[in-house]
Amino acid sequence: MKIVAGNFKSNLTRSASMEYLTALDSMLNTEMCRNKDIYIFPSNTSLVQNNYKHITLGAQNCNDSDSGAFTGEASLLHLQEFEINTILIGHSERRNIFFENDNICARKFEYFKSHNFKIFYCIGESLGIREGGKYLEFLESQLSFIDTNYKNLIIAYEPIWAIGTGLNASVEQICECISHLRGISNAPIIYGGSVNENNSNDILRISDGILVGSASLDINKFYKIISD
Ligand code: PGA
Repeated sequence: MKIVAGNFKSNLTRSASMEYLTALDSMLNTEMCRNKDIYIFPSNTSLVQNNYKHITLGAQNCNDSDSGAFTGEASLLHLQEFEINTILIGHSERRNIFFENDNICARKFEYFKSHNFKIFYCIGESLGIREGGKYLEFLESQLSFIDTNYKNLIIAYEPIWAIGTGLNASVEQICECISHLRGISNAPIIYGGSVNENNSNDILRISDGILVGSASLDINKFYKIISD
């Protein structure tokens, strides 16, 4: 089974997301999804009931609380209202723009683990760390904060220098990191960073799946990635 996930980030309004999800769900069929698990992470204001036939909805971010005084944050109850039990934690944009460090990511991980969520836990090195040569140690240190034996864990390896830059890591670079990570965890390991309809097949061959940002915003590109 391969994982194909789309991260809409802060794009597509609620109505555009609903239109997209309804259209994609009707374009997909059971045969196409026999070997692929399809996930979409819309913005939190675009979350809807998680009852599509071929697509599982997840949250891009959520506070580690049932509810409460956390201005601007969604809490568990907001996800449960839509029967959402999949979440992205530790995306590099959360880490770098919103200052979520390893401790915050680990706290969220523990919380959503205790609620049995499927957790896509993102890790990845910056260009500086890659060039310094110690990127495998860095990835290992990011994972040292969480329980890598958690049964509902999916590790998303997303080198920061490849996200939204059009620069995807080479197959050799991805293979090196994935094989290192396989020595640490039995969780599925997916890759993200400038995945598109032209490179998705090569990457799917050497990984357990892909996390697609900008190319997922175009339904035809994302459909091609799934159906190829
Ligand atoms: P990208 O984003 O495909 O636009 O590089 C990937 C991600 O951030 O998950």
